[in-house]
Amino acid sequence: MRYPLALRVIHWFTALMFVPMLAGGYFWLRPMASTDPFKLDALMYHMAIGVFLVGLTVIRFGVRRVWAKPVAAGLALWVQRALYLCVVLMPVSGFTMVFSARLNDIVFARNGAPLPADLSAITGHFWHGATALTLTLLIAVHILGALKDRSAFKRMI
Ligand code: HEM
Ligand code: HEM
Repeated sequence: MRYPLALRVIHWFTALMFVPMLAGGYFWLRPMASTDPFKLDALMYHMAIGVFLVGLTVIRFGVRRVWAKPVAAGLALWVQRALYLCVVLMPVSGFTMVFSARLNDIVFARNGAPLPADLSAITGHFWHGATALTLTLLIAVHILGALKDRSAFKRMI
């Protein structure tokens, strides 16, 4: 049995996109000062791609519910469930930051207001970072599990 084509395509596309989103968040976005001239653009790309990926994951979840019963069991299935949960929590914590610091007006509407000097102090930042870290660990466990189980790979390619 293979997963439906739509689910496989979205899975591998999002798998590829999550790596730069996580690495870019930790190593590029976070160290960039709020006064950096490129910060607004960097945040805009990060937020827009994040929302797009979450939208794709929701579609994939729908495809899985309707056309593909989860095949994995035990730890692998719980890791998959936790991955879905984290993917939903990323924009929830992201939008908490957006609304608490009015980032939509600053980043998308470009109203000319400065970004908060310390973005890591705004509401939601801690949970966004903590969820990203959990997601990173889950992805590592998920990849190790997939490498061990050939039949799982065949279902997904
Ligand atoms: C697919 C989902 C996403 C992933 C994997 C992701 C990942 C990350 C990571 C790893 C960081 C750095 C965390 C840290 O400082 O410890 C970050 C920062 C941030 N993210 Fe996301 N993110 C996602 C979606 C979003 C969305 C949808 C929004 C807003 C709508 C958002 C807004 C932000 C903001 C405002 C920061 C703070 C930037 C800074 O500290 O300079 N993210 N993100
Ligand atoms: C290079 C990285 C990745 C590899 C090698 C990989 C591999 C696989 C494989 C082989 C399966 C089939 C498992 C089975 O049927 O037992 C699978 C399913 C799944 N993967 Fe990944 N994966 C990767 C990245 C990701 C990422 C980044 C996410 C989410 C953030 C993710 C979420 C899922 C989910 C939720 C399933 C269950 C099927 C579904 O609902 O789409 N994977 N993965």
